[in-house]
Amino acid sequence: MEIHGLNDSFGELTTLISVPERGKYGNANYRGNYAGDVLGKLVSYLKRTGIQAPYIYDPMEGGKTSRDVCTALGLPYVGDDIHNGFDVVNDDFHDTGFDLTVLHYPYWNMIDYAADLPKHMQSMDMSRMDWKTFIAAVSHVNVKAAAHSRYVAVLVGDMVVKGKGYIKSIQREMAWIGAPVRHFTKVQHNAMSYRSSYKGNFIPVVTEHLLLFKTDYKPEGELWILVPGQYKKIDADNYVTWKNAIKHVTKGLEVITPEKVFERVKKQFPSKLRKTNTPEATVRRTLQELESEGFLRRKVRGFYERVS
Ligand SMILES: C[S@@+](CC[C@H](N)C(=O)[O-])C[C@H]1O[C@@H](n2cnc3c(N)ncnc32)[C@H](O)[C@@H]1O
Repeated sequence: MEIHGLNDSFGELTTLISVPERGKYGNANYRGNYAGDVLGKLVSYLKRTGIQAPYIYDPMEGGKTSRDVCTALGLPYVGDDIHNGFDVVNDDFHDTGFDLTVLHYPYWNMIDYAADLPKHMQSMDMSRMDWKTFIAAVSHVNVKAAAHSRYVAVLVGDMVVKGKGYIKSIQREMAWIGAPVRHFTKVQHNAMSYRSSYKGNFIPVVTEHLLLFKTDYKPEGELWILVPGQYKKIDADNYVTWKNAIKHVTKGLEVITPEKVFERVKKQFPSKLRKTNTPEATVRRTLQELESEGFLRRKVRGFYERVS
């Protein structure tokens, strides 16, 4: 993808990755496969850092894209998948001392990889886990990969929650490991979801996230992680000050009195009243402050109007 004004000498790897032709590597019909040239670009980067023949591990290889790229480039490679009975979350990795571990996680809840698996293995398919279990599993595998590999590449999408109008973003919630070399935005070409038709005001997701972490972990060395994001319910009204609340409720009031303002605050910002024992006095004091700031003008005692 052409970026105007970018000096050619930077080469072809930028934080925006677009590989429109998926290429010959791996099984193009495997759901959620990726274009092998993406791994090719990462390998070229590692070579430029001095790792001439990176040892690569892909424990969720699916349609074997990573395997084919490594065969073509003559690189040492180990790959596996739950379809061979290997569980990336609970089983031991196959080796340690990898230069790059590729973690292309399942597209949670969008692609069911387990339908063709024996019953006892179906619950191990990460795309069938509930969201919190999935994020905990992703974080665990990220950290495990960091302990086995100098670099870790994580490729994950954002999933639109049906009927809600928002996304769930794995990269935002998972543990980040070591140091993020780059956070790439990767264009998703030819996704199955593009063939669906969506009603209403829908924003198609056409990109995903590729994070390249440098862990440089050595036995008994230090490994720092950014702990996974957490959900916390907050009282948003705490962030709206009395001044802003009162400025807002005075909109459309021709004559502003402490009593009218109090009634409106009671309706529109009830939590403000719960947090003070003297709400009427707070309203009066805030009106005076707004007057001294030039937002309100006092007509007569106890009667204000907005200045403009
Ligand atoms: C997004 S796909 C990988 C696609 C692959 N990179 C390709 O190009 O074809 C995710 C893979 O994770 C596998 N998977 C899901 N849960 C797993 C688990 N617990 N252990 C190992 N593999 C798992 C799925 O079978 C699927 O092949």
